[in-house]
Amino acid sequence: MNCETLIRTLARERSLSREDWERLFAEYDEEDVSLAMELARKTALERFGKQVWFRGIIEFSNICRCDCYYCGIRCSNHNVSRYRLTEEDILACCAEGYAGGFRTFVLQGGEDGWFTDERMAAIIRAIKEKYPDCAVTLSLGERSRESYQMLFDAGADRYLLRHETADEAHFRMLHPENQTLSNRLRCLRDLKDIGYQTGCGIMVGTPGQTPATLASDMLFMRSLEPQMIGVGPFLPHRDTPFREEKPGSVELTLFILALCRLMLPNVLLPATTALGTAESDGRIRGVLAGCNVIMPNLSPASVRKKYMLYDNKAGTDLTAAEGVALLRQQMAKIGYEVVIGRGDYQKEETP
Ligand code: 5AD
Repeated sequence: MNCETLIRTLARERSLSREDWERLFAEYDEEDVSLAMELARKTALERFGKQVWFRGIIEFSNICRCDCYYCGIRCSNHNVSRYRLTEEDILACCAEGYAGGFRTFVLQGGEDGWFTDERMAAIIRAIKEKYPDCAVTLSLGERSRESYQMLFDAGADRYLLRHETADEAHFRMLHPENQTLSNRLRCLRDLKDIGYQTGCGIMVGTPGQTPATLASDMLFMRSLEPQMIGVGPFLPHRDTPFREEKPGSVELTLFILALCRLMLPNVLLPATTALGTAESDGRIRGVLAGCNVIMPNLSPASVRKKYMLYDNKAGTDLTAAEGVALLRQQMAKIGYEVVIGRGDYQKEETP
């Protein structure tokens, strides 16, 4: 089967074999990317119309115990000026976001031991008490099942934890010994099982990524059936072991986003900040490839430059309001409307 046939088969059957995935990633060309994007955009239009959901990200701590080789806030990077927002700071970000129409707050931070279950639960309860009509999404890395349960019971609705790669050998190339793929996948299964709307995902173009590892990612995502998928290009950071590595391809990122839309038609799929960093209209192209979520940054201007996962991150020289205005303009330019609301995952109606 050629790539065109594989893409049409995926659109119809929503799955491919390992062999077919590998072949698709080994042999695709520009026209295949266009075809996948066209079909994915049609799929998204049927389900969501010309609408995108906004989620406000609050980067509340850049302190991290992990040492991932790709990440700018890894613990070995001593050039980072470390910070933690207080509960008060976080609530101020929510207040600004709420006034701007946001109904989902994403609390993202490094794996920072200061934020114990008790402290996190108190913050979640405070947000939910003030904004009962809002969803709270967490992105705090790997924790125990008990911890995830406690934060869910405190009111958290969703959790983002990219698996980064579903291939054991590739995972080892991206992380030091003390991190394991098996624990990461355990976390994702626990999160889903507890009842979180759960997001996994990958960076595109990390060192060691191949058609075979990408095939494993697609098969893993298909079997997990996450409610959300985060995919953006890998972008090198100057203070990491991957400083000399090539950035991931925008075309391949758009291709994978489109394939995710075709594989899991209802999935919540953000056009990521990394995509908007790699190319100024990257997020526009993401939406045209089937994305239906954008995650503007609500972090205080004073900390934005300190949450640099990769070099030149988009929006770090803007205030929250400026960043939001720019993204609204970009969406208006392609005739898409930003909707106010929680934007929960909708399960497929089975006829
Ligand atoms: N380039 C692109 N994405 C990155 N992330 C971390 N470092 C980088 C980088 N250098 C992504 C990871 C992580 C998410 C929060 O940010 O996939 O899960």
